[in-house]
Amino acid sequence: RRPIYLDCDTGIDDSIALAYLLASPEVELVGIGTVSGNVSAARAARNTLDLLHLAGRDDVPVAIGAQDFLAGSFDGGVPWIHGHNGVGDVMLPAAPREPDRRDAADLLRDLAHEHGGALSIVTVGPTTNIATALAREPGLPGLIRSVTTMGGAALAPGNISAVAEANIGNDPEAAAALLDAGWDCTLVPLDVTLENRLFERDCAALLDAPTALVRALGAMLDIYFDYYVPLYGERSCALHDPMAAAIAVGEVRSRRAPAVEIVVDTTRGPGRGQTICDLRGQRLGPVDQPGARTRVVLELDRPLGPHLVERLTR
Ligand code: BDR
Ligand code: CA
Repeated sequence: RRPIYLDCDTGIDDSIALAYLLASPEVELVGIGTVSGNVSAARAARNTLDLLHLAGRDDVPVAIGAQDFLAGSFDGGVPWIHGHNGVGDVMLPAAPREPDRRDAADLLRDLAHEHGGALSIVTVGPTTNIATALAREPGLPGLIRSVTTMGGAALAPGNISAVAEANIGNDPEAAAALLDAGWDCTLVPLDVTLENRLFERDCAALLDAPTALVRALGAMLDIYFDYYVPLYGERSCALHDPMAAAIAVGEVRSRRAPAVEIVVDTTRGPGRGQTICDLRGQRLGPVDQPGARTRVVLELDRPLGPHLVERLTR
C-alpha cells in the first residue's frame, strides 16, 4: 500500500478527504500534520484526532503544525463556513490521546526518511508546514514520490479575494516554496473543485452509512450546504479537499492536466495569492511546457461525487 502524509486544516471537506483516504485500499495514511486555516492548527489537530478515533484509527500520528503563516498571522478562521469547531458544530467523541510530540514539519521529515522515496504528500490547507519542512530539510523533494495540493485558481475567480483561493491566499510564500521545490506536483484548483459537488441525496446516503465516521460527515454537511446556497442556488457543496485525495489515490484521474509554469503572486497588492498559470497554447488540447514540473488539473475523467459516496458508504 502506498504511504501518504496528509496536511490539513480540518475543516468539513478536510474531514471528508481524511475519511476517503482511510477508506482507500490502495493507500496507507501514515501521518497527518495540521495547519491553521479553517480553524487553528491546534483545533484542527483535535478534530483530526477525534475523527480518527471515530474510525478506530488511534494509531495514525497527528502533529500540530503552524499556527501562523510565513508572512502573516492566523485571523481566526471561517466559522460561518465550517462551524465554530470546524466540523460543522457536530460534537465528536473525544479521542483519548494527545497529538504527536513532534511538530508537523518534523513528522513529515521523519516519515519521508522512513519511507525512502515512497511517501506521497497530500495538502488540503495552507502549505506552511511543507515550506517549513523544505527549509529544514532541503533534500526533501528527493525523498518524496509525489505531491498533490488543493489550492489556487487557474482561470476561475478566487474565493477569498477576486483572484486568490483560500489555501494559497492564506500563505502565498509557502505556496511558492511548495511549487518551486522541483518535485512531481499536481495542483487541484477551484476550476475543478467547484464543478464537483455533493447534493442532498448524497448527504442522506452518508447519514445512512454503516460507519460512525461517515454518518458524522453527513451531519457536518448541514451547515456546509447552507454556505453554498448563494453560489449554487441550492443546498449542496463543492468538493475541494476530497478531490486532491482522490487524485492522489489515482481512482479519479485528470482528463486535462498540462504541466505549466505557475507563479504565485507574493506581492502585497490586490493580486496577492493568485496562482498565475501560463495556459497559453492550450486551445487544441493539453500541451506540457518544457521544464514545467507542476500539473494543473483542469478537467477530470469522471465526476467525483458518485465515486466518493460509493467509497464512503459501502
Ligand atoms: C479550501 O479552503 C478551505 O476552506 C477548504 O477546506 C479547502 O481546503 C478551498 O478554498
Ligand atoms: Ca482544507
